[in-house]
Amino acid sequence: MQALGSLRYHRFISLGAFLSLLLLTLTNAITPQLFRWGIDQGIIKKDLQTIFQVASCMVLVSIGRGLFNFGQTFWAEAASQNVAYDLRNQIFTKIQNLSFSYHDRTQTSQLLTRITSDIEQIRTFIGTTLVQVVGAVVILVSIAIILLVMNWQLALITLSAVPIAGFLLAQFFTKNINLFGRLQEQLGDLNAVLQENLQGIRIVKAFVRESTERSRYTMLNDGLVASNMQSIHAIRNTFPFIFLLSNIMTLTVVGYGGAAVIGGKFSIGELVAFNSYQLLIIQPILLIGFASPIISQAAASAARVYEVVDAEIEIRDRPGAVPFNQCHGRITFENVHFRYPGAVNEALKGISFETKPKELIAILGMTGSGKSTIMNLLPRFYDVTHGAVCIDGRDVRDLTLESLRSHIGIVFQQTTLFSGTIRDNIAYAVPDAPIEKVISVAKMAYIHEFIASLPDGYETIVGERGVGLSGGQKQRIAIARTLLTDYHILILDDSTSAVDAKTAAQIQESLDNLIHCKTCTTFVIAQRLSTVHNADRILLMDKGHLVAQGTHDELMRNSPLYGSILESQVATPYIPS
Ligand SMILES: Nc1ncnc2c1ncn2[C@@H]1O[C@H](COP(=O)(O)OP(=O)(O)O)[C@@H](O)[C@H]1O
Ligand SMILES: [Mg+2]
Repeated sequence: MQALGSLRYHRFISLGAFLSLLLLTLTNAITPQLFRWGIDQGIIKKDLQTIFQVASCMVLVSIGRGLFNFGQTFWAEAASQNVAYDLRNQIFTKIQNLSFSYHDRTQTSQLLTRITSDIEQIRTFIGTTLVQVVGAVVILVSIAIILLVMNWQLALITLSAVPIAGFLLAQFFTKNINLFGRLQEQLGDLNAVLQENLQGIRIVKAFVRESTERSRYTMLNDGLVASNMQSIHAIRNTFPFIFLLSNIMTLTVVGYGGAAVIGGKFSIGELVAFNSYQLLIIQPILLIGFASPIISQAAASAARVYEVVDAEIEIRDRPGAVPFNQCHGRITFENVHFRYPGAVNEALKGISFETKPKELIAILGMTGSGKSTIMNLLPRFYDVTHGAVCIDGRDVRDLTLESLRSHIGIVFQQTTLFSGTIRDNIAYAVPDAPIEKVISVAKMAYIHEFIASLPDGYETIVGERGVGLSGGQKQRIAIARTLLTDYHILILDDSTSAVDAKTAAQIQESLDNLIHCKTCTTFVIAQRLSTVHNADRILLMDKGHLVAQGTHDELMRNSPLYGSILESQVATPYIPS
């Protein structure tokens, strides 16, 4: 319904489609009347001039029919393209604005399906099915009226075919609705296996599972063909009856009407016209019948698309949020509790600490202890469940999101480069940055030499179709990208966890520059002894609790846990071979 509502934004196009449709119906309805005129006034009265006039009218009408048919399909397609365009943009904008928690809950592949196939379903529906159905209803009603005016007794007999055909079709669809639903599901399953295998082909080969995967796919494929055959059977079993019905009606019209013609109550032309109308009537019924499953599919697609479009944005500017202009970088956690939406246990339990501006804060703890979660709360990727996170004494929820995040530089655990040049990627947040600045941050991230060694240098295309980069190279480009922004708080998540030791050492080298310069407040997951020694404050996390905080020396003296976690989490210096 909402999708249909959006047609109002394209009301002229929609109006064009509708007008063409009405005119098309008119030309269709007029043709039998021309026959009638030609037979009664021309052929029977042997009036060549009338026959000639009728013939010219018919040519004109068929030209009109061609034009209106073109107009109708063209405008309808145009309207549907516009609606799909709007929907795609709406959903894309929405995805940009949705909170992290939404993306946690939703699979990327589902979102992709919504953007591509669901919108396409809606588009086809608006572009073809909708006009066809409206057209079918219009022609059905107008023919019924014309027939009733021409001869109401004969009309009632003919029109009785409508409910009978409708009943047969309804029976057909209720009986086979599960079958059609299953067909869709089976097609979906088949594609899911295909997609899995395309993505995981290396794993399939590594574990020598090719034949298993092949038989899994073949089995689903067989099932699909079986269901398809079943539906063809069902169609073959129902439709002969509908056509038989149509033929019986012709017989009745010719029989009853023929008698009426002989009795002088009906002219031959009228009989011919009547019969043409009667033949026209079966088409729209079939059309409406076939459109019904498409309508329900389109409705399901629309529901799924609007589920995203209307999804609540959990993290947004509060009313009265103010821009955060000057950031000094004093960070306070006041008894922060946090539970991920949908999770059972709290990821953070009563965390309190305060940093001074420009401190280096190292977070230490086992995997899953809540280190990344602490970092997620600062830029408001999530909001605290209890307590407050403050910067310079102001609750982050009172600041506008855009200004808050503009002060925070982040290097994520896993990084993504966008398709484009290396320069574009480094200058992602500051697209007009001069090349000198791009080069200087690349040097700081220890990636300049590598980039300079590429044939196209900073103009090298990266991304799916571009040059392949190793995990460490990507990560260092991501570090350069962050360095180029104007941040006052720097967050360095576990950016070395996903790579091998040598790459980790390279990344660490470029991070050391940032960690030790202390020009801004820096949060870093402690991975090296040097970081721990350098830190002004170490937060020791254990199972969501902040169990101790202080400098390395203080913790060595006071915390029994510190030594063991330090040993298990912090790498011994890597010595390149
Ligand atoms: N997006 C998420 N949704 C639900 N639970 C999460 C999510 N991210 C992390 N968690 C859970 O929160 C806890 C802390 O995770 P995290 O902060 O990532 O740990 P660390 O970074 O210290 O390894 C873990 O128990 C983890 O399973
Ligand atoms: Mg983590």
